[in-house]
Amino acid sequence: MLKRAEAQHSTQKTFKKESPYRFDYYEQLLATPPMRISSKKTNITNRIIYAFIIFASITLLLWNQSAPLLTESERQCILDETYPRGNISSADLGESFRIAFYDVQKTFKILQLPNVSCDFAEHSTSTTVLMMIQTRAKSFTRRNVLRETVISAKNSKIVEDGNMKFIFVTGQNEEDEKVNEILENESRLYGDLLITDMHDNYTNLPFKALQSILFASSRCKNVDLIGKIDEDVIFYPDQLAKLLPGLRIEADTNLILGDLWREGVMVNHEPDTKWYIPKEAYRCNRFPQYAAGPLYFMTRQAAKDILKVSNGRKFITVEDSLITGLYSVDINAENIHLPMMYYHHGQTTDLSRRQLLSWHNKKNDEQFRMSFFYMLSTRCLPCKKF
Ligand SMILES: *[C@@H]1O[C@H](CO)[C@@H](O)[C@H](O)[C@H]1NC(C)=O
Ligand SMILES: *[C@@H]1O[C@H](CO)[C@@H](O)[C@H](O)[C@H]1NC(C)=O
Ligand SMILES: *[C@@H]1O[C@H](CO)[C@@H](O)[C@H](O)[C@H]1NC(C)=O
Ligand SMILES: *[C@@H]1O[C@H](CO)[C@@H](O)[C@H](O)[C@H]1NC(C)=O
Repeated sequence: MLKRAEAQHSTQKTFKKESPYRFDYYEQLLATPPMRISSKKTNITNRIIYAFIIFASITLLLWNQSAPLLTESERQCILDETYPRGNISSADLGESFRIAFYDVQKTFKILQLPNVSCDFAEHSTSTTVLMMIQTRAKSFTRRNVLRETVISAKNSKIVEDGNMKFIFVTGQNEEDEKVNEILENESRLYGDLLITDMHDNYTNLPFKALQSILFASSRCKNVDLIGKIDEDVIFYPDQLAKLLPGLRIEADTNLILGDLWREGVMVNHEPDTKWYIPKEAYRCNRFPQYAAGPLYFMTRQAAKDILKVSNGRKFITVEDSLITGLYSVDINAENIHLPMMYYHHGQTTDLSRRQLLSWHNKKNDEQFRMSFFYMLSTRCLPCKKF
């Protein structure tokens, strides 16, 4: 635990944190203009009150930064919530993938493999990145939009140079057999899909994410970094390419990168609500630090290690807290915060001038496409120029 704390500390020194908890809050605070006080009406009481407010705010800020976010017993709970790993582990079985948690194991038959090569050159001078896009079976239009925007070699140098590749990962639609037929045809046409017989629903998301990193780490040669990205994320690959040289990525290091949420996020033990987790599956009240689900990266080594320990914890549906949080603790990974990642809740807009690495948003297909191109030149300075 101590080692991990040190690792985080050194990470924070090298990479400026911009987590939604801290950065926006401070920025707003600093941007607030000083209160204007009419000199005549200012009396000593007011001054004392203002001085006190400023003093209290500064104290609170400093205290907030130094206070441990997890108590010793909460930290211990996270470590104790593991189980002896049995002989059934996550594995690439050739015709299928087995994903194993302590209490549940599922095997997914491979229906279609991508026909694009996911291999990279052996001694690439740049970090090589394989992006596994999590997509719903029926998202036909969205995949076409993504083929034209985020993943197109026309829009990024790193993709054009062959150092970043993309594969769509999906399962089978339970309700509509027709969807699966069209999907099969789409896969034959583009060759960029990995399809298994997994039911394409919310409960299976952690299985889908683990299956993605299993495929990438066991079948793709010379991948340094594996990215997991959702289909509703605007992402500029060249922005990542610009950040990578400073991140000392080597295939055998144990790194998880993304938008880090500070340790201490509350667990929802309230049935029938969003992100509900039964106490039987995870009894602790808080999560360790984790990288937010819409887009995160890990080294190939971290992926392999996570798959090795996946059967040491019980299944929970909250994919990011589990994979980039709890398993990160188990494999003692170093977590690195990436800047310029935003979410729908008003953190950024099309018109904002902030630089973008990624934006998880609720745009429809056409808005997604338009925004990607609209912002390409203004919100991504390192992006390939045309
Ligand atoms: C796991 O161990 C049990 C009992 O020790 C055995 O019956 C089972 O075949 C093993 N499974 C695998 C996948 O090795
Ligand atoms: C796979 O791709 C190769 C070349 O890129 C092509 O010749 C072949 O027909 C493709 N196979 C399928 C099944 O699409
Ligand atoms: C899939 O492709 C086949 C062969 O081109 C075609 O006969 C079939 O109608 C297509 N299915 C769907 C659902 O589009
Ligand atoms: C999702 O599919 C699995 C079968 O793979 C099933 O057990 C589960 O109940 C389904 N979840 C939802 C929310 O429909």
